[in-house]
Amino acid sequence: MAKVIYPGTFDPVTNGHIDIVSRAIELFDEVIVTVARNPGKTSLFTIEERVEMLKESLKDYERVVVDSFDGLVVNHAKQVGAVGIIRGLRAISDFEYEFQMALMNRKLAGEITTILLMPHARYTYLNSTIVRNLAQFQGDVSEFVPPIVVEKLKLKFGNKEG
Ligand code: COA
Repeated sequence: MAKVIYPGTFDPVTNGHIDIVSRAIELFDEVIVTVARNPGKTSLFTIEERVEMLKESLKDYERVVVDSFDGLVVNHAKQVGAVGIIRGLRAISDFEYEFQMALMNRKLAGEITTILLMPHARYTYLNSTIVRNLAQFQGDVSEFVPPIVVEKLKLKFGNKEG
């Protein structure tokens, strides 16, 4: 059984992330979407909130599990018995960072393979920061994120229209 992890900050999950999960689950038996405790990033949502939003957004995917991790992504992959790490590649600008991370992860754990998947072109310009900014200034984010995230953003920013 081939299991992979899909790590990220997911602050919050967007439809672009869901698109990657839906592609990964076509290829592997189980996808573990795992929220990173990333000390280098200030986040809007707590780990628990991010996990909750992912669980709700992915509840219809039977072979998808959501969890969180601390420390190195390859250690988490090994711990859960994953053969690979899924990452999304939205544009050429993502490539250098992903390439560097994939090679470092390969150096750390040669048995874990990084798999880069491209989301639908409609998500190439999307990221969580844009979604947070839009919501903060009362923009409509419903086209970009699952309904649970629309709700949670409204609660965070007190947006009545949204
Ligand atoms: N659709 C929409 N947005 C997407 C996306 C997609 N398909 N794929 C990525 N993004 C966005 C994210 O929303 C995020 O946006 P933001 O920066 O505005 O918040 C951005 O792209 C970065 O993506 P993310 O996947 O969250 O990566 P990250 O740079 O935060 O890294 C880890 C997350 C978990 C991979 C990384 O921190 C990590 O590996 N940490 C553990 C330490 C480690 O092992 N490092 C590697 C070896 S040194």
